[in-house]
Amino acid sequence: ADEPLVLGIETSCDETGVGVVRGHTLLADAVASSVDDHARFGGVVPEIASRAHLEAMVPTIERALAHAGVAATDLDAIAVTAGPGLAGALLVGVSAAKAYAYALGKPLYGVNHLASHICVDQLEHGPLPEPTMALLVSGGHSSLLLAPDITSDIRPLGATIDDAAGEAFDKVARVLGLGFPGGPAIDRLAREGDAGAIRFPRGLTGPRDAPYDFSFSGLKTAVARWVETRRNAGDDVPVADVAASFQEAVTDVLTRKAIRACRDEGVDHLMIGGGVAANSRLRAMAEERCAAAGLTLRVPRPGLCTDNGAMVAALGAEMVTRGRAPSALDLPADSSLPV
Ligand code: KG4
Ligand code: ZN
Repeated sequence: ADEPLVLGIETSCDETGVGVVRGHTLLADAVASSVDDHARFGGVVPEIASRAHLEAMVPTIERALAHAGVAATDLDAIAVTAGPGLAGALLVGVSAAKAYAYALGKPLYGVNHLASHICVDQLEHGPLPEPTMALLVSGGHSSLLLAPDITSDIRPLGATIDDAAGEAFDKVARVLGLGFPGGPAIDRLAREGDAGAIRFPRGLTGPRDAPYDFSFSGLKTAVARWVETRRNAGDDVPVADVAASFQEAVTDVLTRKAIRACRDEGVDHLMIGGGVAANSRLRAMAEERCAAAGLTLRVPRPGLCTDNGAMVAALGAEMVTRGRAPSALDLPADSSLPV
């Protein structure tokens, strides 16, 4: 095949991800997570993440290559997350990518973490139509992005003005004593709860509010206050109902705004990516509402929504295919890289 064979490295947060793709075909996706090392701190500790990346980097690259059944010398390019993310964590991936690119004499492609969360869907559903409307929801971001060209032109329409959606899941999980990361725990618990039990506030949904911006910190505070009032009164806290009602508020706002953006921009499909896109209620609600609005929904399987190396390789392959210029070997890691 003449589709490019690309290795992708992701180290922007707490997952050391290495993927291998050929064009739109996923060959390997190896992930080593330091999430358990952070759990007792209730959040990702940057220093711990960097050290864990350093230890996992080379073994994870070797595991991905072995699983893909390809030799490093066969690769057409090395892609790496250049940002945004934790500075020290990014630096480990970028340094490793440079070393491999230099040693193998292969081109290096520094890619944007947000763009790769979108591009990963090509591994599951084939070429993304352009422009693509993307709702990107993770622990660090909640953005609506219009992408006329996934490799070079992504326009932010709106973003969170305070907490990211995943951050809200993690904080509410902490209030409910569910541990870290909170998203998967709330998702599981919410299945046993009543999503209509408590009407939590929907931030920034008033007629004069920014149509594509999000706000989740008021919601988080409302949940914490509701729980505290119950506890102070000596009442039991119906945790499953709280989890389900909170989750309903988040997914309601996310899907409503994303569908509105599609309608306003005349885009007939919606892509949802990032760790929170693994949420089962968000997936179901988006499916229902997109169908009602006549929109095609594209969401990668949960394992490709959370941080991984395959998404980086997918975007790298797209850049090779479109003849984009490779990065220089002094490519910087940029913790606040814009899309
Ligand atoms: O994209 P990601 O793996 O890392 C970042 O770039 O942030 O996203 C991690 C976030 C965490 O906040 C986690 O709680 C959330 O995604 N998450 C979920 C689910 N799985 C992961 N949130 C809700 N429901 C889930 N099933
Ligand atoms: Zn991410």
